[in-house]
Amino acid sequence: MSFTIIGTGSALPRTIQTNEDLAQFLNTSNEWIVSRTGIESRHICVAESILDIALEASVNALDNAQIKPAELDLIICPTLGGDTVTPSLACLIQEKLGATCPSFDLNAACSGFVYGLDVADAYFSRNNDQKILVIAVDAMSKLVDWQDRATAVLFGDGAGAAVLASGNSLRAIQLTAVGNQHALSIPWPKGNHPLTQNQTNPAPYLLMDGPEVYRFAVAAICSDLRSVAKAAGIELADLDYIIPHQANLRIIEGAAKRLKLPMDKFVLRVNGCGNTSAASIPLVLDELNRSNTFKPGTRIALTAFGGGLTTGACVIEW
Ligand code: ACO
Repeated sequence: MSFTIIGTGSALPRTIQTNEDLAQFLNTSNEWIVSRTGIESRHICVAESILDIALEASVNALDNAQIKPAELDLIICPTLGGDTVTPSLACLIQEKLGATCPSFDLNAACSGFVYGLDVADAYFSRNNDQKILVIAVDAMSKLVDWQDRATAVLFGDGAGAAVLASGNSLRAIQLTAVGNQHALSIPWPKGNHPLTQNQTNPAPYLLMDGPEVYRFAVAAICSDLRSVAKAAGIELADLDYIIPHQANLRIIEGAAKRLKLPMDKFVLRVNGCGNTSAASIPLVLDELNRSNTFKPGTRIALTAFGGGLTTGACVIEW
């Protein structure tokens, strides 16, 4: 016995920045951003804290699942980090919800939601009778250098959540990690110890080799999807929906072409949110759940890649 998703939720900050808005202070253009990425606008935390959007998505998911915070047995928060290093975001969400369960953050960058599902699955194998909240949230606007046009235009902020209960929906799941600091990293601030003050500290902003991440991502989507479909005992063509990490339209098009799959199998929402890191897949999942797109038996694949480098994919039968 594994899990079934019994509720989903999501939240986006109110402030929207279009590509034209970014072109006011960066040497870029709507044409460049749309043609290279498919992104038209993104939501940015201005009035909201990271906790605010995480909490809103969590409350929405609990309402959708029709369960109370006190019924939760575990909160897993895939994130690159919240408003504080400690307490963890998961602990702050627990406090604000009024839940009493163990709670921890999980850092697998953009693959975090699928990593969170895999960890939750292990908890269900220990104890069937549980309710687990996986709340993925990232505010990339606080982690990119807003003077670096090559990275800043790609990202946005958001939160997406799922409530899991015992069930048989998860058909296959797989995680990978290939440690690689060069392709994508965000250095920590180095502190102010007097003995380290002469050392040069890298700025604590995202550094990325875009073309390397692009090649990695296309290859990872293809191999991960083939592998989880095989483990689930189905063909790729049997999947009703593929929800990829929404990093970049061209990455998804590249993978679809290589897999010889039609683009309409892939759910695309990168245009209005940009890359929201760990939140990108559960944001889409929530939208499709709330529009009753999924019916019993609908086969969905999730496929994610991100800093680490990490990847995660799974097949869920609704
Ligand atoms: N506006 C205008 N020009 C730009 C911009 C911009 N925002 N950014 C870069 N350029 C310029 C560059 O300076 C370069 O100019 P030059 O040729 O004069 O030197 C030119 O555009 C081409 O730059 P490239 O980096 O080669 O552009 P590329 O076609 O590779 O596209 C991109 C860049 C979109 C980043 C691509 O490499 C990509 O999609 N990579 C994957 C990135 C990604 O998805 N990362 C996140 C995934 S992991 C995670 O989610 C955390």
